[in-house]
Amino acid sequence: MALKTSLLVYLLIFFLVTSVVSAISKPRVGVIPRTRSKGVLPSKSSITTSKEEDRKTFYYTQTLDHFNYKPDSFTTFQQKYIINSRYWGGANTSSPIFVYLGVEGPIEGDIDYILDDYAPIFNAFLVYIEHRYYGESVPFGSWKKAYSNATTLGYFNSAQALADCAELIVSLKNNLSAETSPVIVVGGSYGGMLASWFRLKYPHIAIGALASSAPILDTDNILPEDYYYKIVSKDFEEVSKSCYDTIQQSWSIIDSHEKNGLPFLTQKFKTCNPLNTSSELKDYLEAIYCEAAQYDYDLPPNAYPVNRICDAIDGLSKGTDILTRIVAGAVAYRGEQSCYDIDKYNHPTDQSSLGWAWQICTDMLSSYGRTRNNTMFQISPFDLHKYIKGCQDTYGVSFTPRPHRTAIEFGGHNIRLALQKFGSNIIFSNGLRDPYSGGGVLENISDSVVALPTTNGTHCMDLQPANDQYDPIWLVEQRTSEIKIMKGWIREYNKMLKQENSDRRKGSQGDAVVPSWFLLTIVFIIVKTWIF
Ligand SMILES: *[C@@H]1O[C@H](CO)[C@@H](O)[C@H](O)[C@H]1NC(C)=O
Ligand SMILES: *[C@@H]1O[C@H](CO)[C@@H](O)[C@H](O)[C@H]1NC(C)=O
Ligand SMILES: *[C@@H]1O[C@H](CO)[C@@H](O)[C@H](O)[C@H]1NC(C)=O
Ligand SMILES: *[C@@H]1O[C@H](CO)[C@@H](O)[C@H](O)[C@H]1NC(C)=O
Ligand SMILES: *[C@@H]1O[C@H](CO)[C@@H](O)[C@H](O)[C@H]1NC(C)=O
Ligand SMILES: *[C@@H]1O[C@H](CO)[C@@H](O)[C@H](O)[C@H]1NC(C)=O
Ligand SMILES: *[C@@H]1O[C@H](CO)[C@@H](O)[C@H](O)[C@H]1NC(C)=O
Repeated sequence: MALKTSLLVYLLIFFLVTSVVSAISKPRVGVIPRTRSKGVLPSKSSITTSKEEDRKTFYYTQTLDHFNYKPDSFTTFQQKYIINSRYWGGANTSSPIFVYLGVEGPIEGDIDYILDDYAPIFNAFLVYIEHRYYGESVPFGSWKKAYSNATTLGYFNSAQALADCAELIVSLKNNLSAETSPVIVVGGSYGGMLASWFRLKYPHIAIGALASSAPILDTDNILPEDYYYKIVSKDFEEVSKSCYDTIQQSWSIIDSHEKNGLPFLTQKFKTCNPLNTSSELKDYLEAIYCEAAQYDYDLPPNAYPVNRICDAIDGLSKGTDILTRIVAGAVAYRGEQSCYDIDKYNHPTDQSSLGWAWQICTDMLSSYGRTRNNTMFQISPFDLHKYIKGCQDTYGVSFTPRPHRTAIEFGGHNIRLALQKFGSNIIFSNGLRDPYSGGGVLENISDSVVALPTTNGTHCMDLQPANDQYDPIWLVEQRTSEIKIMKGWIREYNKMLKQENSDRRKGSQGDAVVPSWFLLTIVFIIVKTWIF
């Protein structure tokens, strides 16, 4: 009985959650494409050879709710983290601790990035922290329980996730007797947002943050809602104007088959399940184009997907109809298959996507739409009411999204004014061909809150491990700048630490000496007594 009920709840959630996921077609803010497996970089000729055996996995008993003292708040869960101390210079040296802030997925997905390269360069200690509600780091004993309903999901938000990292880092430093070692937080995409926010919220724990492809301005209508799709369109237009035009013209042709041509479209696009609406096909194609633009770099086996899609679309002989070209583009992106599962784009059901569905109804709520005919996509304005209804259908009618909350919690409006005096030691790196770069910080804000944009870069490229074979020179330069800037932070911190220690020593010597006011008072009393 109990099992049956929970299964029902589970299925219900499962079904409803997907309605929110499909509300937007843009890819999650992930470091790598969700549809591509990891470890595809061939012959990694990177500068380090960090091995699996250098990494050790631990579980930290984490506080469920950092912001309340209600009995429930003291519930704990096991948070997974992975360390690599092979190259560490040790506590009480100037060697830093790099902390990679995990994103929407199991932490294993985050360990093959740049930190391995940093370890020997900085003699660094590496820590990777899994984000709560993802991977194994779920409260209430199981993923299913944790995702039961809005009550159990309620502890799932960015502020709690940052507090997790703060508590874990402090505990770890204590255990290593490394209280004074400098900590730098690193993250990409959503993790980049977390990294920059961590530095602002916990400046006493991290001396700096490397925030790669972090669209921190993508909240509370700070940006026009079409910014993401405009950059996707620009990427396609730059590769081929005729490809852009073909895609732009295709939507109304697909629509014209809505009434009685769905079997035709199903057959033409070889979808595994029959299409129920033309929107399913359009959402799928949109998702492909967005993903291609977001990860448009030389990463075999799917190198430069925008070029590949456009080469296929443009490559057919003159007079070929538009739909046939669009099919060729989709096949070029996904490879020859007997049929195409489009559900994984339209209704993803993996755990990370379901977690992300909660996040886009809470902290990651932002508007995505097209209000004008200025992209290669159809006009489709963002509808907040529909969006909120999707969240409520999933999480209950009492669930009320708070569209302004993230900007209030972390800032966003007038970011320049806020960060110029108040912030320091943050690198915002971006690739301008990444659609999310439109939500990033692209200008230097102060001497130490700096932007490192690259014209031809895409999403989180600088966080990929160095690869002599594939890395363009501007990417090498971007990474070199990041290292130089971070070395500067560490140098400055260690200088200040030394200064403070010597001040403290002087200060404590001073305390031992009898204060002069005391001596003067004694003299005064003696003199007074002597006179009278
Ligand atoms: C939410 O799920 C938990 C765990 O499955 C359950 O104990 C609780 O009663 C549920 N709450 C609501 C309001 O449905
Ligand atoms: C630090 O040590 C304490 C006591 O052994 C332990 O409970 C805690 O989990 C450790 N912290 C981390 C981050 O591993
Ligand atoms: C580092 O210095 C602190 C304070 O001087 C000391 O308590 C700690 O034991 C030192 N750690 C190591 C590993 O030497
Ligand atoms: C059509 O609807 C059915 C039932 O909801 C679903 O299983 C199927 O995946 C849908 N087809 C496509 C192509 O999405
Ligand atoms: C949008 O612009 C394109 C090209 O300029 C044109 O072909 C298309 O019909 C326009 N769509 C709408 C809805 O105006
Ligand atoms: C910001 O300053 C750094 C030097 O600190 C420089 O390398 C970088 O090009 C500047 N960024 C922009 C967008 O001007
Ligand atoms: C960017 O790529 C284009 C096309 O390959 C090339 O012409 C241009 O020089 C590149 N720009 C930079 C800054 O590398």
